[in-house]
Amino acid sequence: MHTSPNSKPWWQSCVVYQVYPRSFKDSNGDGVGDLNGIIEKLDYIRDLGVQAIWLSPFYPSPMVDFGYDIADYCDVDPLFGSLDDFDRLVRETHARGLKIIIDWVPNHTSDQHPWFKESRSSRDNPKRDWYIWRSPSLSQNSENLGGDGLPNNWGSVFGGPAWTFDPHTGQYYLHQFVKEQPDLNWRNPEVQTAMFETLRFWLRRGVDGFRMDVIAMTVKDKELRDNPTNPNASPNLPPNDIYGRLLEKYNLDQDDVHELIRQIRGVLDEFDDRCGIGELWGPLPRWVRYYGQNGDELHLPFNFRLMWVPFSAEGIRGSVDELEAALPPFAWPNYVLGNHDQPRLATRFGGQSQARLAAMLLLTLRGTPTLYYGDELGMENGYIPPEKVVDPQGKNLGHARTRDVCRTPMQWDDSPFAGFSPNEPWLPVSADFQTRNMNAQADDPASMLTLYRRLLQLRRETPALAVGSYSPVTVSAENCFVYRRTSDRAECIVALNFSAENRQVSLPNARRGKILLSTHLDRHETLETISLRPFEGVILALEG
Ligand code: GLC
Repeated sequence: MHTSPNSKPWWQSCVVYQVYPRSFKDSNGDGVGDLNGIIEKLDYIRDLGVQAIWLSPFYPSPMVDFGYDIADYCDVDPLFGSLDDFDRLVRETHARGLKIIIDWVPNHTSDQHPWFKESRSSRDNPKRDWYIWRSPSLSQNSENLGGDGLPNNWGSVFGGPAWTFDPHTGQYYLHQFVKEQPDLNWRNPEVQTAMFETLRFWLRRGVDGFRMDVIAMTVKDKELRDNPTNPNASPNLPPNDIYGRLLEKYNLDQDDVHELIRQIRGVLDEFDDRCGIGELWGPLPRWVRYYGQNGDELHLPFNFRLMWVPFSAEGIRGSVDELEAALPPFAWPNYVLGNHDQPRLATRFGGQSQARLAAMLLLTLRGTPTLYYGDELGMENGYIPPEKVVDPQGKNLGHARTRDVCRTPMQWDDSPFAGFSPNEPWLPVSADFQTRNMNAQADDPASMLTLYRRLLQLRRETPALAVGSYSPVTVSAENCFVYRRTSDRAECIVALNFSAENRQVSLPNARRGKILLSTHLDRHETLETISLRPFEGVILALEG
């Protein structure tokens, strides 16, 4: 197996950078980012100091869910380029020593996929059973929020019932997202064979791994039983949020999904050194099972827990320690703080100072970090006027739920459309682009971008930070999270002040440490007791 200098597999020692292709760089002036745009910016990504990129979908798609509705798993949408462009992207990425991970959306296709067109054409079409069709239910069920006649009570994540009636054949089909995203029937072996082939298609083209979309949803309860009501559902949900009012008992995370994931892993293992990442939510004891019994499932089930714990030393430490304790010895941790579905981290955590602290946290914990494009500039949620909302979640469940806010164009410079495109982009550029952009930050010694570059550089050069062990250090300073990262050769301390006040932190056993990096980028003293400014974090090398 090809390993990195510190002899860990690449997916353990790398930092992943997520590119949302629509919003990264538009090379042909149509207002939408594309593969050639990404190629143009590969040097930027390499110089940032990450080792892998993950691309959200670029497949042919009617774009109802902006590419998460795939009409052909083995091609590139003309909006993004061509297969030749993709091959060039793979070559250029590898030539810079970076790995390339792509999105794979196994739970559902687009309703424009030829498989679904065939499936819906008649009840006896050979592909009928590739999707999940049910006749109208005759029982009247007053508890069914979606209404009578629906095969069960499930809701769509994007609002309304999870079933749509197809008058042509007189049956309903299941879709856990919008109705243009019908769920595949993974209990059908032909679906498995066909979908495994789509993985091989890209593996042969040289991709290093997949991020697998809502992988736990692929296998549903055999009998499609009703989900129980969620007693803790928020009373403020919009009326059509049926999904939010039910527990996810039968629509995902079924025990037999693990057999499927082992098979997917088998496909990856037909090739050298590839990596499987899964989008997975849910309680820790169930989540941890996705690593497999012996590491035979996913290399990295995405860990999103830090995104929503309270932004406090106690909240964050609690989440990290719980994860560390739950992982079997073979499992490697990972952390995600931002992605294309959640509010920008700088907005979520309360501002730029908090975002700097979060950057240090993310890049110094034990485990593979995933960064979301633009977070390295401190990009905040964009304002999208209600009439400009395009995200189906925002259109169906209300302005407050739109994910457009975190998908605004990358801010490269202060030219009219932030250097993203010469023409009006598909989503408005954020209002702060004239001051918050890559160009403005690149040579500023105190900028967020400089902080990310320094953090990434330090992580690369310091095995204790990249792959060392983790142990928390209990300190008396209120609202400070302090931990030790240790390798054979070195010992680092990371001290993070989550409070808006100054704090004094003493190093363990009265040892001295040299500050390697502060979130404020302005100090390098050697000391025993550190005075931390509000929301300041420091990384120290312990002496002796
Ligand atoms: C995942 C994706 C999200 C998409 C949904 C349906 O949660 O991250 O963007 O809308 O799946 O594919």
